[in-house]
Amino acid sequence: MAEHPAYPVGLRLTGRHVVVLGGGQVAQRRLPALIAAGADVHVISPEATPSVEAMADAKEITWHRRGYAEGDLATAWYALIATSDTEANTRASAEAEANRVWCVRSDDADAATAWTPATGSSEGVTVAVLTTKARGRDPRHTAAIRDAVVEGLRDGTLVAPHHRTRTTGVALVGGGPGDPDLITVRGRRLLAEADVVIADRLGPRDLLAELPPHVQVIDAAKIPYGRFMAQEAINNALIEHARQGKSVVRLKGGDPYVFGRGMEELQALAEAGIPCTVVPGISSSISVPGAAGIPVTHRGVAHEFTVVSGHVAPDDERSLVDWASLAKLTGTLVVLMGVDKIGRIAETLVAHGKSPDTPVALVQEGTTAAQRRVDATLATVAATVAAQEVKPPAVIVIGAVVAVGPDGTV
Ligand SMILES: C[S@@+](CC[C@H](N)C(=O)[O-])C[C@H]1O[C@@H](n2cnc3c(N)ncnc32)[C@H](O)[C@@H]1O
Repeated sequence: MAEHPAYPVGLRLTGRHVVVLGGGQVAQRRLPALIAAGADVHVISPEATPSVEAMADAKEITWHRRGYAEGDLATAWYALIATSDTEANTRASAEAEANRVWCVRSDDADAATAWTPATGSSEGVTVAVLTTKARGRDPRHTAAIRDAVVEGLRDGTLVAPHHRTRTTGVALVGGGPGDPDLITVRGRRLLAEADVVIADRLGPRDLLAELPPHVQVIDAAKIPYGRFMAQEAINNALIEHARQGKSVVRLKGGDPYVFGRGMEELQALAEAGIPCTVVPGISSSISVPGAAGIPVTHRGVAHEFTVVSGHVAPDDERSLVDWASLAKLTGTLVVLMGVDKIGRIAETLVAHGKSPDTPVALVQEGTTAAQRRVDATLATVAATVAAQEVKPPAVIVIGAVVAVGPDGTV
């Protein structure tokens, strides 16, 4: 008999009776998708793995602690037969056939009336991959195709633009600290779908080179601002491009809401009636110390970390930072935008009681090829920064965690 390909279909199982025979590894792997589909799942098996048992305890499935019995499949819409008893599997599959219940068999794909595809999801789409014919089935190959498609959609290397639901408006995307691998999956996908990208100097600039030629990339630092403030000019550029019906990505370094003026941009867009979505990013305040081997907290060493901006000196009237209180904290202090003012900051902390021997590390251009770390103490940091020519962007870490090393040193 000629072998025809399987007919792909999506079963809508919400509230429908589904029987799973067996409570072992196969059932454990398949159950989450059946539960997610809203099926009324009945597992029939004398034994079950701890995970299957946990699903029963959580009332996600009903577990019947016994072996298969004739009649178990009579009212099922769909069945998965996966016991280690071939004879029981064969009897159950005959019952499924007689009752016209579509049935998957883990032990014999040829004898099954349905096959489970390799599946994965990305942004509202399920990708399901099936081998065309039972003969020569290669589950690893189908899984690899699934992975390639899903990962490609997630990271934007496989571009499948939305048509009906194409997002216009602006996405404020946190791009992470600089390494192009440290942007979120969502951020990368939005970038791949953008018509216009307005990018900061900080962040994953390498990703811009990968964008297709039709994408307009605008350097935020170069937007002319005439009588406006630079930020206002950026807001206007976002509004202008979005009003032309384009998908605009505002690519920012780190996280948009950590010293990133993200809320100002969001407010300007809201005022202009432009839809805006915010995609969080990995902030340099945690990731850059981490990339240089510094944990911002460590058991027994620091139970808190505080992130502050050092862009204005402690004695500047515009400063909103209470440096005297910070000097009294025992945890880690992370200073962003503080290279120029580190001398004044160190002096102020020491004047308010912090030990001059407190370790300090400056991590410049963290997570990029140019990353470098310079160590000092509060007493020496100003001279060290000058001597070593530390330049922005750098994250400054102050506290005992700086001395914590992989060999157990504290
Ligand atoms: C305007 S703030 C933006 C912070 C960003 N929104 C975040 O969450 O990381 C810029 C400051 O972040 C720090 N910074 C950002 N990326 C950095 C990197 N790759 N290496 C070192 N410092 C970085 C520097 O202190 C820099 O002056």
